[in-house]
Amino acid sequence: MSNAETPTRIPPPESALEGLYAAHFATVADRYTAALAATGFDGAVIPAGGLRMLFRDDHSYPFKPNPQFRLWVPEPAPDCAVVFEPGKRPVLVFHQAVDYWHAPPELPSAWWARHFDVAVIREPAELTQHVRKGPRWALLGEPCGPAEGLGEPDPAALIAALDWHRAAKTPYELGCLRRASFLGAIAHRAAESAYRTGASEYDAHIAFCHAIKSREEELPYNNIIAYGRHGAVLHYQHLDRVRPASAPSFLIDAGAPCLGYGSDITRTWSAAQDEFAQLVAAVDAAERRLAAQVLPGVDYADIHLAAHREIAAILSDFRIASGSVEALVETGVTRVFFPHGIGHLLGLQVHDVAGLAAGPAGGERPRPPGHPYLRLTRRLEESFVVTIEPGLYFIDPLLEAARGTAAGTAIDWARVDAFRPFGGVRIEDNVVARQGGAENLTRDAFAALGG
Ligand code: GLY
Ligand code: MN
Ligand code: MN
Repeated sequence: MSNAETPTRIPPPESALEGLYAAHFATVADRYTAALAATGFDGAVIPAGGLRMLFRDDHSYPFKPNPQFRLWVPEPAPDCAVVFEPGKRPVLVFHQAVDYWHAPPELPSAWWARHFDVAVIREPAELTQHVRKGPRWALLGEPCGPAEGLGEPDPAALIAALDWHRAAKTPYELGCLRRASFLGAIAHRAAESAYRTGASEYDAHIAFCHAIKSREEELPYNNIIAYGRHGAVLHYQHLDRVRPASAPSFLIDAGAPCLGYGSDITRTWSAAQDEFAQLVAAVDAAERRLAAQVLPGVDYADIHLAAHREIAAILSDFRIASGSVEALVETGVTRVFFPHGIGHLLGLQVHDVAGLAAGPAGGERPRPPGHPYLRLTRRLEESFVVTIEPGLYFIDPLLEAARGTAAGTAIDWARVDAFRPFGGVRIEDNVVARQGGAENLTRDAFAALGG
């Protein structure tokens, strides 16, 4: 694998992010202070989560830290916790067991750790010693030891208030997401190159991980690596070890991690300069137009509805379906070919929290009728980070359900049959809402690599 020069192209996270973390920490503390006051709590215990053991076995699933904890702590270790009381320095309760079967985590000494008082515990149950008796505490997550005495578990009102604010990213978080996009673009290049030189799905996946020195469990979500018809399965999960005799297309939906934040990038490639390549180019152009609409004040549901009009125009241009743009949307034809939402909030979680929230006090902003899979209905604000991911697929069960309906009569079935072997197209970018114009992290990252 020819990625010998890759590490030098990756900016070290400290240099890019260290200077931004102090302000992020202060913002998170302010948000916690306000949310605790608004919901009647005196403090919060935020556990990192622990290692979950396999059923009746003595080894664990990969450690997946609690995102509420990760908002504070860039490099988590299992069974730690943040104890936050407004006006006081947060305490990082650090579980360091005496263990010779595994290497115990080292005490944090990185740039972020000096913002905390660090209290070492040897047993999970010692966490309670760091929570003051008397005040009304909230417990946000699963503690490593007994939950008793740590606070009210996951109070809905407090979580709603905290999650609401996670949509707008701090400059530090934007730095993490920028770097995750950059790493994602490097890894996408490596996977595409593997596809073009005869690799199997599995080998393209390994090329992706290797290019950024990531373990699979560190990726923000399971890679979707789909050759040919597999691209018609939205979250295709297998990694075939053997390359099929025919692999006319490659859909890759895969992201890279950076300190808990992840990119979420999809590209689709055609093996040849054929009509499917033109379809990919048409969806790519539509995606760019939609991404440019990511601006403060815009209702995200309107971008979703605009995407349906874009898909309708493409269906018509490629003679896959006939009728006006309005008719193709109204009669549900576009939903046969584009059956998911245009995107979602992105951050510590790939499908980040509070996408449907009506406000910091809770409630839900409804989806447009007939669009049950849209994950984000909020009006965009400065520094929201979202994905824009239009798709056009040839999905057998949806096509079969449409056959014989009003939508089916608009579809050119011979054209559908011609495109079926390619599976489908999805193009997905990560975009920051900015007053002066959308910042497209993904396009910027690919451009930094030379287009
Ligand atoms: N990778 C999952 C998604 O795009 O939402
Ligand atoms: Mn994706
Ligand atoms: Mn996505």
